[in-house]
Amino acid sequence: MNRIAVLTSGGDAPGMNAAIRAVVRAGSEKEMKMFGVRDGYEGLIAGNVVRLRARDVGGVIQHGGTFLGSARSEEFKTPAGRERALRNLREYNIEALIVIGGNGSQQGAYELSRVGFPVIGIASTIDNDLYGSEVTLGVDTATNIALEAIDRLKVTASSHRRAVLVEVMGRKCGYLALMCGIAGGAETVVIPEVEVRADDVARDILEAYRRGKNHALVVVAEGSDCNASVLKQAFVEHKDLLGFEVRTTILGHVQRGGVPSASDRILAARFGVAAIDEIAKGNHGVLVGIEKGQIVLTPLAEVVSNKKGLDLSLFQMSKLLAT
Ligand code: F6P
Repeated sequence: MNRIAVLTSGGDAPGMNAAIRAVVRAGSEKEMKMFGVRDGYEGLIAGNVVRLRARDVGGVIQHGGTFLGSARSEEFKTPAGRERALRNLREYNIEALIVIGGNGSQQGAYELSRVGFPVIGIASTIDNDLYGSEVTLGVDTATNIALEAIDRLKVTASSHRRAVLVEVMGRKCGYLALMCGIAGGAETVVIPEVEVRADDVARDILEAYRRGKNHALVVVAEGSDCNASVLKQAFVEHKDLLGFEVRTTILGHVQRGGVPSASDRILAARFGVAAIDEIAKGNHGVLVGIEKGQIVLTPLAEVVSNKKGLDLSLFQMSKLLAT
């Protein structure tokens, strides 16, 4: 296979640029003609394809986001949209496509590979909820960005003897919240995988107060039933019951826009090179991920039909350390 395209899709993740760079340079080294698709599957449907050479990906490694652009394409979910995309791939004589993205993006990759088009996925999402890779591209940076904000919030919370609720992203996965909670020294962590009521969180805050703490940090995953808005509403009137006044911060997209960490850049390089190596071997229909420090390949069919679990012993550990 000699004409290869790459696209980034879904929520951008720090390290996507580094992954595009790795794909383009590794492919060019193997005499492949490399192309970039703008704006994810939307660009594929529109035929927005550009030639990418080694020099075109210079100076991007240190930037968050994706210079190719990204999108969540509703049209690509339809057979007609995918047919248009396939037509464009044929038009440009593209022989294989590399899809850098998370669950929705790899579902799209699977749909293309199911009808016989050669696709390789690269595991990338700040949510770390993709089956087939214990760590996905962007998680490390997003965790560190959230943590920096949490550290700052803790400083002001302590000065005012307050409780602070910090909501982090992650969709229905509590990974980011749990890691931020452990690293930030949270008094309690609220994640979708463990059912809690506002009363339970209130009890944790009150216990922190009774133990003589001068703040209580609650890290909440956006996908929890008890998210920050629910908790805020439950607590706003109850300063006397909690001991502390409460303030709420929703970090939102701030977590996605950071400068990629060294770890994400290195992961991007490994993923990109591995994707090209597999294409050179004639392999496709798989996701490139990492397990126990080693690059692994998982069939896209398996990726889209499995759910990644969260190690709940880490949740217990966060509780143990909150005393
Ligand atoms: O999947 C990545 C993610 O950042 C989630 O954590 C979040 O829920 C979602 O994307 C936000 O999507 P959008 O950027 O479309 O608002």
